[in-house]
Amino acid sequence: MNRVVASAPGKVILFGEHAVVYGEPAIAAAIRRRVYVSVEEIATDRIEIESRNLKIRESMRLEKCTRGELEGVSAELKPLWHLCHKMLELHGHPLKHGLRVEIRSEIPESAGLGSSAALATALALALKEIFSVDMSPNDIWNIAFESEKIVHGRPSGIDNTLSLHGGVILYRKGSMKRIRLGQTIPLVVGDTGVSRSTGKMVARVRMLREKYPDVIEEVIRAIGRLSLLSVQALVDGDLEKLGDLMNINQGLLEALGVSSPEISMLVNAARKAGALGAKLTGAGGGGCIIALPAKNAINNVVESIKRVGRDAFLAEIEFEGARIESGGAHG
Ligand code: PMV
Repeated sequence: MNRVVASAPGKVILFGEHAVVYGEPAIAAAIRRRVYVSVEEIATDRIEIESRNLKIRESMRLEKCTRGELEGVSAELKPLWHLCHKMLELHGHPLKHGLRVEIRSEIPESAGLGSSAALATALALALKEIFSVDMSPNDIWNIAFESEKIVHGRPSGIDNTLSLHGGVILYRKGSMKRIRLGQTIPLVVGDTGVSRSTGKMVARVRMLREKYPDVIEEVIRAIGRLSLLSVQALVDGDLEKLGDLMNINQGLLEALGVSSPEISMLVNAARKAGALGAKLTGAGGGGCIIALPAKNAINNVVESIKRVGRDAFLAEIEFEGARIESGGAHG
């Protein structure tokens, strides 16, 4: 029986989180940490989903999933059940067997590194191969985005775009442009270890914007301008300028109320250890920071974050998006 393994990368947002929700541009990069999804046909009439990281395993009759009767599934796996249902609904019922879905992830969850979008994208790609159906990259994007909406409410789509395509992009709702880097950028990711919900953080900014529209609109527009300014700095490989822009962006995110004491602690630790710039990445309120170390300061920055008791690692930029690792039409 068929078995397919697909994977998709996580991401960091370099500039523009939150502002992107209001139509401003953001800059984001895929990172070399992936979610792997294995989908295997099994000789039952059921679908089983197991997440090794979350230590959750659920199972449901194929017929029930096809009809979209998803009551009783866990909140964690609901987006995946929904995605399986949509695939079955869209493509009829091409399966003669049940399916076993296994997930393994190198990306910490709920940390702003796009793990849920990577998971949905890899699952959509693996199911497409197992179903042997034609789906364009746009179709994969759409079905993964539908599932992402269950996690985040009103996501901008930036995570899905990077999981699917990889690389570094200038993203605006509905459009993306690739950026060619002048030189590789060493990025250190520091994890506060505090989990947060993107939906709640987005709602917090929305409320602040409703309360103080004139001021918050200006902050959001200024963040959008930072994203645009950073494009040339990325192309030129101007690390000093990128660091400055990251520090300004962090200040503006603080103004939006999405930083936290833990984030500030890691940002300060990174800057003291020789980071040219440091800021939160993703929704904030916890999750991760990114720091741009000066040449020769990479280890110092990683160690400095570890010394305050948090995990840190060097994140290389990943230029390849979602891909089939084994099985399916590709081998
Ligand atoms: O923390 P993440 O990876 O879910 O990123 C959220 C980024 C926001 O701009 C805050 C929301 C969005 O959908 O773009």
